[in-house]
Formats: sequence, C-alpha cells, structure tokens
Amino acid sequence: MWLPNRPRLAYSITVWVLLLVGPLVVISLVDFTLGPHRSWISLRVGSLGGSYSLSVKEELERPFSLGAVAQAPMGSSIEQKSSPPSPYEVSAGEIKRYTRLDRLEAALAKARHSIREAAQIRNMTSIHEDSDYVPQGPIYRNANAFHRSYLEMEKLFKIYVYDEGEPPIFHNGPCRSIYSTEGRFIMEMEKGNFYRTKDPDEALVFFLPFSVVMMVQYLYVPGALEYHAIGRTVADYIDIVSQRHPFWNRSLGADHFMLSCHDWGPHTTSYVPQLFNNSIRVLCNANTSEGFNPSKDVSLPEIHLRTGEITGLLGGPSPSRRPILAFFAGRLHGHIRYLLLEQWKEKDDDVQVYDNLPNDASYESMLKKSRFCLCPSGYEVASPRVIEAIYAECVPVLISDGYVPPLSDVLNWKAFSVSVAVKDIPNLKRILMGISQSQYLRMHRRVKQVQRHFVINGPPKRFDVFHMMVHSIWLRRLNVRIHD
Ligand SMILES: *[C@@H]1O[C@H](CO)[C@@H](O)[C@H](O)[C@H]1NC(C)=O
Ligand SMILES: *[C@@H]1O[C@H](CO)[C@@H](O)[C@H](O)[C@H]1NC(C)=O
Ligand SMILES: *[C@@H]1O[C@H](CO)[C@@H](O)[C@H](O)[C@H]1NC(C)=O
Ligand SMILES: *[C@@H]1O[C@H](CO)[C@@H](O)[C@H](O)[C@H]1NC(C)=O
Repeated sequence: MWLPNRPRLAYSITVWVLLLVGPLVVISLVDFTLGPHRSWISLRVGSLGGSYSLSVKEELERPFSLGAVAQAPMGSSIEQKSSPPSPYEVSAGEIKRYTRLDRLEAALAKARHSIREAAQIRNMTSIHEDSDYVPQGPIYRNANAFHRSYLEMEKLFKIYVYDEGEPPIFHNGPCRSIYSTEGRFIMEMEKGNFYRTKDPDEALVFFLPFSVVMMVQYLYVPGALEYHAIGRTVADYIDIVSQRHPFWNRSLGADHFMLSCHDWGPHTTSYVPQLFNNSIRVLCNANTSEGFNPSKDVSLPEIHLRTGEITGLLGGPSPSRRPILAFFAGRLHGHIRYLLLEQWKEKDDDVQVYDNLPNDASYESMLKKSRFCLCPSGYEVASPRVIEAIYAECVPVLISDGYVPPLSDVLNWKAFSVSVAVKDIPNLKRILMGISQSQYLRMHRRVKQVQRHFVINGPPKRFDVFHMMVHSIWLRRLNVRIHD
C-alpha cells in the first residue's frame, strides 16, 4: 500500500525579541485602590529613545505586548544557514538572569497577591493581629485588605530621596502654616528614620524633594510671569536627575513622586509632561478638573498648624453638648464661599456662617460647639477645615466640585462625613436636619475613630498621617510594573 509522504511539519519556535529599535519600557497599570472595583489594565509606554507622544488613553486601548514576536523557520537547515544571523535570537536553554529590579517586582507581585486574597475576606474587622491598632468598621472600604496592605508596606517599601538640590528650596519646607503637611513630609524624609534607603537599586519609589511653597517664597516675583521661574526650576531639576541617574528614564517617571500643599503645586508639574502625566503627584490641590488623577496621584490633607503643634486641637464634647447645627468661618475666597455666605450669613441661628468671627467667639470653641462643620472649597479645592473638623470631633460637610478627599483609596468618606453639592447650598439645613440622631451618633463615633489617620506626630506613629500618606504612595506604586 502506498502512503503519501506526509509533509514534515515545519517546526517553528517563537523568539521573543526583547530589544527592538531601542529599549522598551513596559509598564502594566492596575487600578489598585482598596475599593470594590479592581482590574488589571496593561499599558505600554513608548520607547525610551524616541519621542514620548502616545497618550496613555491611546495606549490603553491597545493589547498588551512585550515587544514583537518573530518566527524563525526551522524546517530546513539550509534555509536557516542562508538567513542572516540575528542578534536577537535567544536559545531555548538560556537561563534568564534576574536583575535587582526583577526581584523587587517579584516581591511586589507577591504583595499584590496577598492583598487581593485579604480583600476576599469581607469582614468589618481585620483578621490580622496588631498590637497597635486593628482597622475595623465601615470607615474603611475594606478593613482587612487595608491592614494587609499596610503590613506589606512596612515590610517592603523603600524610598530613595535624590541628593541633588540645595536648601532652602530643596530638602526643606514649611512646618507651620496652612502648608505644614508639605514641610513635615519633606523633613521626615530628610531625617530618614522611616522607609528611606540610601541605595537607589533597592528603592521602589524615588522622591523629588522640592518645595513649591519655598519656591514661591524665594523665586516668585509678584506681577512677573508668576509660575514661570518655579516651573523652570522644577523642569531643570528633573533634567538633572534624569541625566545623572538611570531611574527617571527607566520608568519615564512612573515610580517617582513629588509632594506639594501649595495651590500652584499641580501647575508647576505641568512644565514636565512626564511628571504631570506619569509620576505620582501628592497634592493638597486635588482638583480633578485640573488633571488630578486619583488612580495615579495622591490627595494630601491640608492641615493648618499655627504653632507647629496639634496639642489642644484634638478632641471635643459629646454630641449632646453641641448646640449649633452647622458652623463656618472664613474669608470670601472663591465662588463656593460666595454662594455659602450669600445664602446663609446672618440668616439662621442653626447654620452659623461668618466671614468675620465676632471677637468674643473663638474659632476652636465654635468647632467644638457644632455638630457639623462646613468645609467649602476656597481658591482651591482643599480646605484645612476638613482636618480641623475631624480633630474637633465635628462631622465634616464637604462642599466642593471635583475634590478627591485624602485617603479615599482606603477610607469610605460617606461613613463619617457629609458631601453637599455646590448647587445644594440652599438646601444645606434641610439636608443636615434630615440626618437622624442615630445616624449622627454613628458618624460622630467614626470621626473619632478616623482621627488617628490624620494626626501629625513628631516622630510619626504607625497609622498616623505620615504613614498613611506613604501608604497611599505605596498603593500607587503597586499599580505599575516596571521593566528594565
Ligand atoms: C470576622 O471577624 C470576627 C471578629 O470581628 C471573627 O470572629 C471572625 O472569625 C472573622 N471572620 C473571618 C472569616 O475571618
Ligand atoms: C535620559 O533621557 C534623556 C533624554 O532622552 C537623555 O538626555 C539622558 O541622557 C538620559 N539619561 C541617562 C542617564 O541616560
Ligand atoms: C498629558 O498627556 C495628555 C495626553 O497625551 C496631553 O494632552 C497633555 O498635554 C499632557 N500633559 C502635560 C502637562 O504635558
Ligand atoms: C478646579 O479646577 C477648575 C478648572 O480649572 C476650576 O474652574 C475650579 O474653580 C477649580 N476648583 C476650585 C475650588 O478652585
């Protein structure tokens, strides 16, 4: 019997071409908040050498691929010999050498996995042991996932602070005033007692230690092109660190962060497109209408430290000893306050709204006498009143548009605050009166519970505002995967 000669199956191997026209930076993005929605999004950023012109949006719609896939015919040895040698071929048995970055990324992958597992346990109380504090209750989006993530951060997170730059503009910042969180954070990183590493190869994120508040103080010439000198300084700084170190170019800034509480913080970052679009920006002015992106940027609480100390600010009477329904005192900054004052100033004893507090009333005691404290945006979205209210155990009422409150990645703000849309300012009293006594008591109790996450300690204590800010940065870093 004659059988047709079966054609020999051309055997082909798949060669992963890792190096194409230039090194590719491949970054996978995940939306890694601790909320109910979690999804992997893959993103490939353009090549290092060429121009970085593809927008993140465009890229997100493309399928993820690690370089190009080439197929080499293996059926005929003659054919193979005649083809030119390729510098990209990887032989089958070759063992991949892991870089230090690969190892860091592997550790992060493990942490992601364990946080995802912890998120499956929908328990109001964390099941992890902790002698300092066990997160529990509805103030958290997921108490167990948060606690797991916090513990992973303590184990793994390392921050490298660039040495470049001189005080007063770099390595320095205001530790009092309305911008105190900027200076406090920079000074804490400078001291280096927490998370800081001197070895950049060990770092998971890189800190750009400039202070926009100090730049405004030293570089701003009133009346001149206001932002320009500041924006140029930021751009020059990024130029220097990207020339002297390989890390900026490696990730196009995605594992770098800056921090500012100044209103101009966001705008100064726009002088460097990669800083604006890729880096983690930790900002008080967390206005989504000005490009604040909560999956990549971090909302920084604004804390007005008049003396540099918080003693005396914490705590307040029980709900039954708070006769005023709602209170606000502050200057007529911005259109939201205009609406608030126009509607409520000297109109109603239950809603006490002042642009100038009478001399016989102290601001702090008014906070402590009120059940709800109104926190309208001023010239920018953030208001120090949010944290003042939490310190004084007064339930905050956020009146803003496009503001992302701090720690929204971990905290469920609805559980301990009220959010009122700007258009509902006329209905303010009705909205607040509509909250039942039992609901108010729950919110008041939760405000007391959440306080610890906003307290400034010197030195920092676990779960306080310093560590929580670092935790938010850690979560953003979990969202990206960086390859050499
Ligand atoms: C949920 O929390 C309670 C204590 O608050 C604990 O007794 C219980 O074992 C937890 N459930 C799980 C699945 O861990
Ligand atoms: C990073 O990229 C910039 C611009 O492409 C280049 O000028 C610089 O030399 C690069 N830095 C390093 C350390 O290679
Ligand atoms: C950020 O990226 C978007 C989309 O590519 C671009 O339009 C915008 O100009 C970038 N922002 C800055 C400050 O460069
Ligand atoms: C937020 O940004 C938008 C766009 O720039 C601006 O119109 C708005 O006034 C800002 N909000 C506040 C409270 O400053």
